Amino acid sequence: MHFKKKILVTGGAGFIGSHLVRHFVNKYPDYLIINFDKLTYAGNLENLSDIETALNYKFFKGDIVEKNDILEAFQKYEFTDVIHLAAESHVDRSIEGPMDFVMTNVVGTVNLLQICKEKWQGNNHVFHHVSTDEVFGSLNEEGFFLETTAYDPRSPYSASKASSDHFVRAFYHTYGFPIKISNCSNNYGSHHFPEKLIPLMINNILNHKPLPVYGNGSNIRDWLWVVDHVSAIDAIFHDGHIGSSYNVGGLNEWTNIDLVKYLCEVMDRELGRPLGTSEKLIVFVEDRKGHDHRYAIDASKLVNDLGWKPSVTFEEGLALTVKWYLENQSWIEKVTSGAYQSYYEKMYNTK
Ligand code: NAD
Ligand code: DAU
Repeated sequence: MHFKKKILVTGGAGFIGSHLVRHFVNKYPDYLIINFDKLTYAGNLENLSDIETALNYKFFKGDIVEKNDILEAFQKYEFTDVIHLAAESHVDRSIEGPMDFVMTNVVGTVNLLQICKEKWQGNNHVFHHVSTDEVFGSLNEEGFFLETTAYDPRSPYSASKASSDHFVRAFYHTYGFPIKISNCSNNYGSHHFPEKLIPLMINNILNHKPLPVYGNGSNIRDWLWVVDHVSAIDAIFHDGHIGSSYNVGGLNEWTNIDLVKYLCEVMDRELGRPLGTSEKLIVFVEDRKGHDHRYAIDASKLVNDLGWKPSVTFEEGLALTVKWYLENQSWIEKVTSGAYQSYYEKMYNTK
C-alpha cells in the first residue's frame, strides 16, 4: 500500500502520544503512523488497544538514545516525518535524578535530528518537536508566555527540554533542517499516568488516601484537555511555518488548591459521597524544590494564524476525564502496581 506520509511518532505509547497516534491513525488513513517507543514506566501499549490492528499503524519498540534503534526503524519504514514526543516528562523525577532526562530528552533528540538530517532528501519533510511552556521559566501574577519570551528553565526537566528545543532550532538555522516546535501548557485527560497532579488526586480520592498539595497550593498552572493539544499539533504539523514555534494553552489558569478542591467536589458527586468528604483528605506537604510559581500561555499566534481553538471548557474536559478514570479503574490498578508503589512511597512517605 502506498502512503502519502510515513510519520514516526516517538513516545506514542505515553499519555499525549497515545492520544496523538489514535487521532492521526483514524483521521489520516493515507498516512502510515509508526509508534516508536521504549515502553518505560510511562509507556503502555494498552493505551492503543483499540487501533492496534489498523492497517496504517505499526509499533516499533526502540530507544531514541540508541542510534541503531532509530536507524533500524528508518530502514524498515523509511519514515518521511517525525512528531517527537518521547521524553522523561515528570518534574519531580527530574529533581530526584536528572541524568535520564539528559539522556532521553537531550541526547535522544539530537540522535533523531542527526539521523533524519542524514537520511532525508528533498523538501517534503517535517520534524515537529513537542515541547513545554516550562522552558520559559516562572511568571508572577501578571503576563503571559509568548513565542518570543526568553528561555529561563529552572528544573532539571525544563532545562533538558529547553536544551532539546535549542538543538532543534540550531538544526534549522545551521543546516536548514525542516523543524517546527510547539510549547504547550499542562495537559489533562484519560490515560494520564497517576504521578501527575490530576490523575494522582483522582486515584487518591478513589482510595480515600491523603491528597498531597505542595507548599500552600498557590502555584498556578494553565490546563488544557489533551485532545485539544493533539488538534493543535495536527494544525501546526500541517500548516505551521517551517522554523517556527507555536505556544499552545487553554487560557485556563487554576491555583493548585482551587483545582484540587474543585476535583474533590466533582468526585464526591460522581461517587455519591456527601459534598465535602474528599476535601477533608487534603494535606499540605513539603514544597517541590524550586517550584515554579505560575505558567500562563498566550496562544494568539496559533489561534490567529492557524484557526485553532479548544473544543471543550475545563469543566467539560474534567468531567470526561473523571468519568474515564471511574470506568477504567483496572487501568489505574495495572499502572500503579509494581514500580509505581516504590516511587509513591519514596516521594510521599517522607513529605
Ligand atoms: P509520558 O511520560 O506520559 O510519555 C512519554 C513516552 O515516551 C512514554 O511512552 C515512554 O515510554 C516514551 N519514552 C521515554 N523515554 C524514551 C526513549 N528513550 N526512547 C523512546 N521512547 C521513550 O509523557 P507525556 O506527558 O505524554 O508528554 C509527551 C511529550 O509532551 C513530552 O515531550 C513532554 O515534554 C511534552 N509535554 C507534556 C505536557 C504534559 O502536560 N504532559 C505538556 C507540554 C509538553
Ligand atoms: O507545563 C507543562 C508541563 O506540565 C509538562 O511539560 C510536564 O511534562 C508535565 O508533567 C507538567 O508539569 P507540572 O510540574 O506542572 O505538572 P504536575 O502534574 O507534576 O504538577 C502540577 C502542579 O501540582 C505543580 O504546581 C506541582 C503540584 N503538585 C503536583 C503533584 C504531583 C502537587 O501539589 N502535589 C502533587 O502530588
